[in-house]
Amino acid sequence: MQTRLLIEPIEGVECGALVLIAFEGSADDRLGDIAKQLYASGEAKGKEFEMILLHQPSGVKASRVLLVGAGNREKLNPSTVRRTVGAAVRFLKSRFLVNIGCALDDGFASADYVAAAVEGAIAGDFDPDRYKTDKSEDCAKPVERFTVIVPGGSAELEQALRRGEVVAGAQNFTRDLVNEPGNRMTPSVLAQRARQMASENGLECEVLDQDRMRQLGMGALLGVAQGSAEPPALIVVRYRPTGERTSGPHLGLVGKGITFDSGGISIKPSEGMDRMKSDMAGGAAVLGAMLAIAQLKPAVAVTALVPAVENMPGGKAQRPGDIVTTMSGKTVEVLNTDAEGRLILADALTYGQQLGCTHLIDVATLTGAIVVALGHTNVGVFSNDETLAGKLLDAASAAGEKMWRMPLDDEYKEQLKTPFADIPNIGTRWGGAITAAMFLKEFAGSLPWVHLDIAGTAWLEDTKPFLAKGPTGVAVRTFVRLVTDW
Ligand code: BES
Ligand code: MN
Ligand code: ZN
Repeated sequence: MQTRLLIEPIEGVECGALVLIAFEGSADDRLGDIAKQLYASGEAKGKEFEMILLHQPSGVKASRVLLVGAGNREKLNPSTVRRTVGAAVRFLKSRFLVNIGCALDDGFASADYVAAAVEGAIAGDFDPDRYKTDKSEDCAKPVERFTVIVPGGSAELEQALRRGEVVAGAQNFTRDLVNEPGNRMTPSVLAQRARQMASENGLECEVLDQDRMRQLGMGALLGVAQGSAEPPALIVVRYRPTGERTSGPHLGLVGKGITFDSGGISIKPSEGMDRMKSDMAGGAAVLGAMLAIAQLKPAVAVTALVPAVENMPGGKAQRPGDIVTTMSGKTVEVLNTDAEGRLILADALTYGQQLGCTHLIDVATLTGAIVVALGHTNVGVFSNDETLAGKLLDAASAAGEKMWRMPLDDEYKEQLKTPFADIPNIGTRWGGAITAAMFLKEFAGSLPWVHLDIAGTAWLEDTKPFLAKGPTGVAVRTFVRLVTDW
């Protein structure tokens, strides 16, 4: 999709469809006479995602005008604009209208709105149809051109447009990775994709193989990997700001990269197991964030760590009851081989400390329990540090991603006791997302640390007006915002 900014009256803009945002109540003057009639007759109400497509509109060069409802005008914010524009784009592309203009006037001529509109358009344009060979029938066409028209704007909005393009492009890069099925997205393939992304964007990439992991003592990661014929990979991608300040903060972004989670010997039920191709969504989010960071060049050093492993029940697979020694030296009793995410993350978090990170943030499709707690709406946020948690939550709300802080009281640690090793890898049935986070906390050492559980939010089961079913790319926008605002 090509994007551009025009600072001129909307009447003269040539495009296949011109999107005008409409609000609840009455039609304002900018929408023209036909819209006024539609509101008067009750056909138009301006409710969220209401679509009214006008053919052969008069007074504009565009061949169609789309009135898209955005609800209550007083409640409008960049998030609503992102969703509204995304819904409009999906509506239009399904009707093969792929040269789209979008007017932002009357108080929405600011950088955050321009960026949000572009992000909504690019994210809305994504469809998970890569492996459909016949796209003639029910598949929508990709959008060719998206023009933001800001009659009262200034040229510096161009920068906001480019930022939105980078951020949503990174989000879709992540969605592309998550969309790949397990047979096409093995740990080696993920490492290859990371290498390619890094070299195309001036980042350093290093991939640790099994021998290196053995030397480093990553017994927990290797324990998960040993059940699969696919070798594991620990992907490390580095971004360093120019003019290298050695004393500044150094953020470690750690993403769970289970390319397929069968559960291992504690095998999952077959119903819905296909969804476990998305168990590398945390790792993909971290790589997407690096892609945007490489282009936006913030002042903070960032190292991405993605332990990439396939969790399978092969003949060499680890057994329930096995005891592994982590890189930190702590021993873990593997009571359930399906609680594998925390095992690979434990070693990656320790390695992040060894690489000199001053702050650690991990992101993972970690527990079904977070879906029970927060549904598919909010990401679960766990942290041992008020300042870092505050920064992360601020970035999330600025980026329009819903996240909710969860508790980490010491009482929950009672569940993580075993007579046979330092710590078991599961607790009881209750508070499962919290005990998983408590487990990770043990491996963050004394660093400020945040854990994001995205098991409920990385994959959309039902298409939304503004987002296709499938991978969402959640956490990418928050990470980029966090690092650029740091
Ligand atoms: N990858 C799963 C968690 C998951 C569940 C992600 C649903 C996305 C949707 C994770 O590895 C897992 O299997 N967790 C177990 C932990 C349990 C054995 C303590 C779970 O949540 O059931
Ligand atoms: Mn699992
Ligand atoms: Zn998993």
